[in-house]
Amino acid sequence: MLQIGSLQFSSPFILAPLAGYTDLPFRILCRRFGAGYCVSEMISCHGLVYRQQNTLDMLRSVEEERPVAFQLFGADPDIMEEATRILMEFSPDMIDINMGCPVKKVTKKGAGAALMADLPLASSIISKVVNAARVPVTVKTRLGKNQQNINVVEFAQMAEQAGAAAIAVHARTWAQGFTGPVNQHLVAKVKKTVSIPVLGNGDIRNRTEAKEMMSATGCDGVMNGRAALGNPWIFSEKYCAETIGQKSSGAILHLQLIEQFFPADRLLGYIKNQMCRYYRGLHGSASLRREIFAANDLSAIKKLLAKTASATTPF
Ligand SMILES: Cc1cc2nc3c(=O)[nH]c(=O)nc-3n(C[C@H](O)[C@H](O)[C@H](O)COP(=O)(O)O)c2cc1C
Repeated sequence: MLQIGSLQFSSPFILAPLAGYTDLPFRILCRRFGAGYCVSEMISCHGLVYRQQNTLDMLRSVEEERPVAFQLFGADPDIMEEATRILMEFSPDMIDINMGCPVKKVTKKGAGAALMADLPLASSIISKVVNAARVPVTVKTRLGKNQQNINVVEFAQMAEQAGAAAIAVHARTWAQGFTGPVNQHLVAKVKKTVSIPVLGNGDIRNRTEAKEMMSATGCDGVMNGRAALGNPWIFSEKYCAETIGQKSSGAILHLQLIEQFFPADRLLGYIKNQMCRYYRGLHGSASLRREIFAANDLSAIKKLLAKTASATTPF
């Protein structure tokens, strides 16, 4: 059973942080389908320290989704410490530190994947966050800057020494971004080197592949990112969606959660994107996706989902 610090999880399959997606409604949905825990979208330490409303809104949580991890990003150890203190007011179960994001607006400020190139700074950030948090602190990282500078094993040792309770490894380099081969051998090497739990991540498309990654690398759990979008069934042991109808039932559940927590009427673009993901790659779904994108309001989208919820077209 996956255990991080004193927390035990019902499943080793975890929802990876995805900016723009792993918000409260989607996290609840994935927990209902069986995710061991979910990681929030990345949250700026500066946004927290300045108590910006849009940042504070990202910290909304409910009992049903717990345990939950909120992910922080930043490059200044003192600000990360201050942000952790503020984050603690919202009672997270865990705090994850983003040390793997390759997006320019994050790395140009020295945060995310840029921290892989500065181990002393990364260590100082982890120690300060650990000191200010009264919950387990995890770190999510990559293999290194590029193929010539692979340092994930050294990085993981540093993270463990600085007090991290677990490490998640997206098995690509910073230079690779989100495409190209994933190197699971290095996840195995990290697992052999540290004694904290190791979560593997990168291109896992289903539960079978997740289990294969665990047995190939010895890692303690797997983070699923893109494959979970429109597909919370990836976390379910018992159920999978085999028809457009079943997909629509999942989409309806997701939309109900969005309506419960967000002003859905004002978020049509976001909702269309989320809903269409349920039918991606599904034979015979192109016209449905087109209709969803063409919908003028929320009730039109709901009608399309309801109409197709009874369809049993296999894919
Ligand atoms: C749209 C998108 C948003 C992401 N946002 C974050 C983020 O906020 N924090 C983070 O650590 N990683 C983020 N990632 C990286 C994912 O957590 C994950 O490491 C990566 O997508 C590889 O896993 P996958 O192949 O299962 O998607 C993001 C990836 C995508 C595609």
